[in-house]
Amino acid sequence: MQAGESQRARQGGQGRSSSSLTAMAQAAVAERLAPGMHAIDATVGNGHDTLFLARQVGATGQVYGFDLQACALAAASARLLAAGVADRVRLIHAGHETMAERLPARLRGGVQAIMFNLGYLPGSDRQCITRAVSSLQALRQALEWLAPGGLLTVLAYRGHAGGAEEADAVARWLQGLEPSLYQVGQQYGDAARGTGPELGLVYRRPNR
Ligand SMILES: C[S@@+](CC[C@H](N)C(=O)[O-])C[C@H]1O[C@@H](n2cnc3c(N)ncnc32)[C@H](O)[C@@H]1O
Repeated sequence: MQAGESQRARQGGQGRSSSSLTAMAQAAVAERLAPGMHAIDATVGNGHDTLFLARQVGATGQVYGFDLQACALAAASARLLAAGVADRVRLIHAGHETMAERLPARLRGGVQAIMFNLGYLPGSDRQCITRAVSSLQALRQALEWLAPGGLLTVLAYRGHAGGAEEADAVARWLQGLEPSLYQVGQQYGDAARGTGPELGLVYRRPNR
C-alpha cells in the first residue's frame, strides 16, 4: 500500500482525492472552529474527523458524534481516549437523521461546525452506507443547528452502489440553498467532475 493509499484507507478510501478533500474540509473548519465552541460529526466512522474536531474545540468545547455502527463508535472511542480528548466528545449510537431529537435544544443555532463524510466505513460492512433520503433529512436538520458564521461540510462519493444518487441529491440540495442565508462552495476530486468525490461547503452568513 502506498502512502497515498494508506491515507485514503484511513480517511474514507472511496475514490481518488478523497483524502485531499477531507483535508480541505478540515482546513475550512479550522478557520472557524475555536476552543470553547460546539461541533457535530454526523458520520463518526473511525473517528478521524471527530478527533480533529475535538482538538479544535479544546477542553472547554464539546463535540457530538453520530454513527449507526457500534464497531465504528468503538474504534472512534479508542482513538479519542488514546488522544486524551474523550471527555469533550459525546458519541451517539444513532442515525444523523435523528439529530434534532438527540441534541440539547439550547445548542440550536449555536453549533459552529458540522461535518458529514458520507458513504461506507472502509474495512467494515459495506451494506451500512449513508443513503440519499436520510442524508438529506440530516443535512436539512443540521442547518437548524448551525450558528451564524458557522460552516457545514459534506463529502459525497459516487463510486459505490447508491453513491451517485446520493451525491446528485446533495448537489441539488446545495444548489437550492437560499443565497442570502448561505454561501455555498463546491470542490471536486481530481477525477473528472461528475465521477469522483465531491465536497460541499455551506457557510451560514452572519446575522445582520
Ligand atoms: C465514510 S464513513 C465516515 C468516516 C469518518 N469520517 C472517519 O474519519 O473515519 C461513513 C460513516 O457513516 C456511517 N453512517 C451510515 N449511515 C448513517 C446514518 N444514517 N447516520 C450516521 N452515520 C451513518 C457509517 O456507519 C460510516 O461509519
